[in-house]
Amino acid sequence: MSPPNIVEFRSVSKTYNAGRPDAFTAVSNVSFEVPDLHELGEFISILGPSGCGKSTILRMIAGLDPQHPATTGEVLVEGKPVTGPGPDRGMVFQDYTSFDNRTVLDNVAFGLECRGVSRNERHELGREWITKVGLNVNTDAAKYPHELSGGMRQRVAIARTLILRPRIILMDEPFGALDPHTRMQMQDLLVSLWREVEATVFFVTHSIEESVYLGDRVFILSRSPGTLLHQIEVEPPDRPALEMQREQGFQKTVFEIRDILEVLESANDK
Ligand SMILES: Nc1ncnc2c1ncn2[C@@H]1O[C@H](COP(=O)(O)OP(=O)(O)O)[C@@H](O)[C@H]1O
Ligand SMILES: [Mg+2]
Repeated sequence: MSPPNIVEFRSVSKTYNAGRPDAFTAVSNVSFEVPDLHELGEFISILGPSGCGKSTILRMIAGLDPQHPATTGEVLVEGKPVTGPGPDRGMVFQDYTSFDNRTVLDNVAFGLECRGVSRNERHELGREWITKVGLNVNTDAAKYPHELSGGMRQRVAIARTLILRPRIILMDEPFGALDPHTRMQMQDLLVSLWREVEATVFFVTHSIEESVYLGDRVFILSRSPGTLLHQIEVEPPDRPALEMQREQGFQKTVFEIRDILEVLESANDK
């Protein structure tokens, strides 16, 4: 028997402030299935006009209020309705979410500390993850967040999430504030870590290139209230970002998606 889908939405809608005069439907009738692939998570990129409900969808999977619970429909993780946050799901945001008063090492090990892992053990694992995300254990571990560049801070945020080995990683425009060069480095880093941790990833971005490069599938949402318009299968990232993003086939896919989004965005202006 195949395992239940790792994530499934069944006709999910979200109305904020339901029943009040300021009720607002952000997401409408969204259904999709992400199968639980053995030892290999799928990478789902999510694109859509600003305000169409991308963060709402991510936060419903995470079980975070007030996006959770859905107003109608079902949000299922491993076949069970989401009832709140859980260790099977980890989230990385655009804003740097580290604790200012903790060193890099203590930020990376924070989740383990919450789980009651001993100091030695969590520092050992923490140092491992600092290296995995491309930071330097000797020079960076004792630094505080304000001593780091934007790229380095996102490396800390990724380490902090992945050290807990979530089966589902939710990323909300994590590289949105980075310069193009750093962004590409982070894309390559993410691909290599994703292979290692074998998690299912939901990745919200405004960059079509990024969505096509990273994704196995690209979800395109309509303007608000967001509905799932397209699910486009794209080639997996089996070459470095800089190389793959120059190829014709890649560019063609990017232009096709850009055309779809252009229509959606311009509908917004009416
Ligand atoms: N807590 C909330 N209460 C009321 N409206 C909200 C809330 N959060 C988001 N919204 C609205 O829902 C819509 C979708 O928001 P969001 O999911 O953040 O969109 P996106 O991430 O695609 O830009 C937006 O119009 C936003 O203003
Ligand atoms: Mg958002």
